[in-house]
Amino acid sequence: MRLENKVAIVTGGGGSIGREIALELAREGAIVTVVDLDQAKAESTLKMIKTSGGRGKAFTVNVTSKQETIRMADLVNKEFKSIDILVNCAGTDIKGSIIDLPESTWDFLMSLNLKGVFLCTQAVVGAMVTKRSGRIINISSIAGKTGEPFTSPYCATKFGVIGFTQSVAMELGKDGITVNAVCPGPVESELIKASIEQSAKLNNKTYEQELYDKFLSSTPMGRMAKPGDIAKAVVFLASDDAAFITGSTINVSGGKEVH
Ligand SMILES: NC(=O)c1ccc[n+]([C@@H]2O[C@H](COP(=O)([O-])OP(=O)(O)OC[C@H]3O[C@@H](n4cnc5c(N)ncnc54)[C@H](O)[C@@H]3O)[C@@H](O)[C@H]2O)c1
Repeated sequence: MRLENKVAIVTGGGGSIGREIALELAREGAIVTVVDLDQAKAESTLKMIKTSGGRGKAFTVNVTSKQETIRMADLVNKEFKSIDILVNCAGTDIKGSIIDLPESTWDFLMSLNLKGVFLCTQAVVGAMVTKRSGRIINISSIAGKTGEPFTSPYCATKFGVIGFTQSVAMELGKDGITVNAVCPGPVESELIKASIEQSAKLNNKTYEQELYDKFLSSTPMGRMAKPGDIAKAVVFLASDDAAFITGSTINVSGGKEVH
């Protein structure tokens, strides 16, 4: 096991990708705190961790609230005496044309996808600096590397996550903390289904046509990712094998994004 007794926090740990990340970290021996706005989803992931012999906790936290993220870090520190790994995975996508995109959609996505990453990082970083070690892994997207139509706020947040990752990596290298981002292509999940449904409608296409045109036709490996594909990359970045990797992004996209 590569992460024996490491203490991890996974935000959005009740979701499709976060759940698989939490399970994979636990399989590698980490004690995993599953954080989600949706208590039932967080509890359900924790139950799966425990059923497979792992250890952890579930906390209901809104990552857009400074107060709640500070509480999250305090609770984990108190319970497990350490925070070794933070995976910022909570996030979502809402499609819309720039012509009439509501300001509220922009603000919502900025707050969840970008400010949430900032707040959770800031909440845990003190504990990591004190210990002079830590791993922060931010889930960006291939939409954080190349823009997509009808996706301006989402792309802006995911580009932002990469800039944030690089900047914080530069600040924290001297403290023994690595900060990296994972950029998934489309992953089999409710989120991508909803996202393709929305862009198919905006492009006047069927779901299948939109999926093919937008993703599969330009993906050398010819399929969507499975949540486990993303989780394996996260475990690698959290492990000693990635000790000298920081400020980097890893695409997990079957070759859809190569830069
Ligand atoms: N699904 C994809 O194809 C795909 C591709 C690239 C990147 N991503 C990114 O991966 C991450 C996870 O995506 P997913 O497909 O698992 O989505 P998901 O909707 O299944 O999971 C997101 C989770 O975040 C939680 N959440 C929402 N708001 C929150 C808040 N304010 N505080 C705490 N938790 C909150 C939700 O309850 C949900 O459980 C997102 O950041 C997404 O942008 C997804």
